[in-house]
Amino acid sequence: MELRHLRYFVAVAEERNFTRAAQRLNIAQPPLSRQIQQLEETLGVQLLERNSRPLKLTETGKFFYSHAAQLLAQTADLESMTRRVGNIERSLSVGFVGSTLYGMLPKIIRRFRDQNPTVELSLHEMSTMDQIRALKDGRIDVGFGRIRLEDTNIRRVILREEQMIVALPEGHPLSLGKSVLALRDLVQETLIIFPKAPRPSYADQVLAAFHDRALKPRRIYEVRELQIALGLVAAGEGISIVPSSVNGLKRDDVSYKELDDPTLVSPIIMSMRALDESRDIQAMLELVYRLYDEEKIPYTPHTERGR
Ligand code: BEZ
Repeated sequence: MELRHLRYFVAVAEERNFTRAAQRLNIAQPPLSRQIQQLEETLGVQLLERNSRPLKLTETGKFFYSHAAQLLAQTADLESMTRRVGNIERSLSVGFVGSTLYGMLPKIIRRFRDQNPTVELSLHEMSTMDQIRALKDGRIDVGFGRIRLEDTNIRRVILREEQMIVALPEGHPLSLGKSVLALRDLVQETLIIFPKAPRPSYADQVLAAFHDRALKPRRIYEVRELQIALGLVAAGEGISIVPSSVNGLKRDDVSYKELDDPTLVSPIIMSMRALDESRDIQAMLELVYRLYDEEKIPYTPHTERGR
């Protein structure tokens, strides 16, 4: 007995008529009658009451019908589930540090989803340090962070070096004066840095910028994240050094000023497992560069660590 026999019998049982069943199955009536006869011979039972109009099922035929219909439904489920598994077997988990949300990350994710609708994409906010652990544990496949962590198992691509800018309370004397500031202009201020933990973090890049120039801010105020730093700047608690893409986050109570030194930058780094040759990761990397080209964003010539 084959699946075809079940399909033919179910059509005859539901239509109660060979002609209509043959039409539904898109076959001629004589071969359909032969197949049903063959089925009865194989099973050694009578499934239809002959000479009844409309056609009637025998008791055995009713039993066979209910099981055959269930089997066909299960076959249809199996087909659709297998197709789905085949399509969603591709998944990509992305780790990111919060500040990249103000840069290109949202556009990158939207474009990737549009271009790869069958890839199940998930996003996880985590520090660069946690990204390295998560990559090794297989919890994420790609990480976008800011810290240059060396690890032989991790491949790192510096995507671009993002300029740092100063966030000042609206109306602060420094927001009203020169259009471009130097770090030494800021040393009398309270410097609000983030994230407080885990370290090293973007906070250390900001502190290093002062330290490398033999400068010391009057007071350091460490906070958990960028949004809190900006809120405190708005409240007049101090100033903060933020990645330039934060400038897009317009707030009436915060003004932004450029810094005069082009080496005051924070990198955006894409990390992945060293031996992971997945086409989705490659597609993500190519998409980033394509978006940089489209948006005319200067990027670092492709350099890799850990290959
Ligand atoms: C960017 O702003 O350049 C960026 C942010 C997240 C992922 C990749 C690039």
